[in-house]
Amino acid sequence: MNRLLVTGGAGFIGSNFVRMVLSEHPDYFIVNLDKLTYAGNLDNLTGFLDHPNHKFIKGDICDGPLIVKIVDEYQIDTIINFAAESHVDRSIAEPKIFIETNITGTSTLLEVARDKKLGRFIQISTDEVYGSLGSQGKFSEDTPLSPNSPYSASKAAADQLVAAFGHTWGVKYNITRCSNNYGPYQFPEKLIPLMINNALNDKELPVYGDGLYVRDWLYVYDHCTALWQVLQKAPPGETYNIGGCNEKANLDVIDLILKRLDKPKSLIRHVTDRPGHDRRYAIDAGRIINELNWRPSVSFEEGMEKTIDWYVQNQEWLANIVSGEYQKYYESMYGNR
Ligand code: NAD
Ligand code: TYD
Repeated sequence: MNRLLVTGGAGFIGSNFVRMVLSEHPDYFIVNLDKLTYAGNLDNLTGFLDHPNHKFIKGDICDGPLIVKIVDEYQIDTIINFAAESHVDRSIAEPKIFIETNITGTSTLLEVARDKKLGRFIQISTDEVYGSLGSQGKFSEDTPLSPNSPYSASKAAADQLVAAFGHTWGVKYNITRCSNNYGPYQFPEKLIPLMINNALNDKELPVYGDGLYVRDWLYVYDHCTALWQVLQKAPPGETYNIGGCNEKANLDVIDLILKRLDKPKSLIRHVTDRPGHDRRYAIDAGRIINELNWRPSVSFEEGMEKTIDWYVQNQEWLANIVSGEYQKYYESMYGNR
């Protein structure tokens, strides 16, 4: 039995990864450590919480003694670190927790990986560490790090720590840098689920600035299969960009949502832009495609159909999230915008 410690496995991408591994790879046991912040949700693991190959533990990646205890007790061989504060707008409002979780938390995990001589440490990073592109070009693994938001700066610092632990102490690591994900179980603070939720409720769709900012979208299951290839095949010390070649302007994404939900364009409202807003991201994923033989399984249009239909069919999941704290968040972020 292979034994993984997955951190942040009650969040969006982590829970999709946990469900994929438990469904498709019966020779893997997962300890899932998650602090259950506003973004962590045990409903994301419905049907899998009591799976015999899964142990959920509520805890913080900054808690070194807890990580040591877990690694010893469950004979962990590999850590996959999804746990993070992940939303750019929140990092602009309150950067401190991003420094704590994304930098101190990663460093805490790395110390354990070093001291316990783990087989592998996989850091789930982001293309946002590379900064912003003009109208041409793509990010490659050799693009210099040039983060612009407190979120991306904290992720870049974490990446540098991972590489430094590799260089200094021989920690066996991989870093993955994926473009924007979408799919089931994404918290409705991010563009796609926020717009789906608002459109379903005939609420205005708040578009930052001119709405012509470009993101390179990847269906979350395809991110998870890419991570699986890294886990199985990547040599230590290597970094991989992950992306599906789906560059879209925000207004085009919103247009697609409105069409599928049969809602009017008049719901769109242009609002004050995000400070320091990165104009364009685009990923060159040639390396993981050629060296690890990974391919995305769905086109953007197919992935969006599946995603929109999932939110329509899971409105109770959405309703549980958007009641309570979320209302305060929404009011503070969009109330006076
Ligand atoms: P998310 O915000 O949905 O989930 C993060 C999870 O981490 C939550 O379950 C939360 O409870 C947990 N967490 C937060 N702080 C913690 C702590 N101190 N200790 C333990 N658990 C903690 O985020 P996501 O979108 O699933 O992103 C997962 C990872 O992927 C992040 O590292 C993010 O930077 C990266 N990433 C995300 C995207 C994207 O489009 N969402 C793209 C590329 C990379
Ligand atoms: P987001 O989902 O926050 O991801 P990121 O900023 O990390 O790429 O935002 C995606 C794009 O959508 C980004 O250009 C900002 C824009 N956006 C809006 O226009 N309105 C919104 O309410 C949100 C949340 C995002």
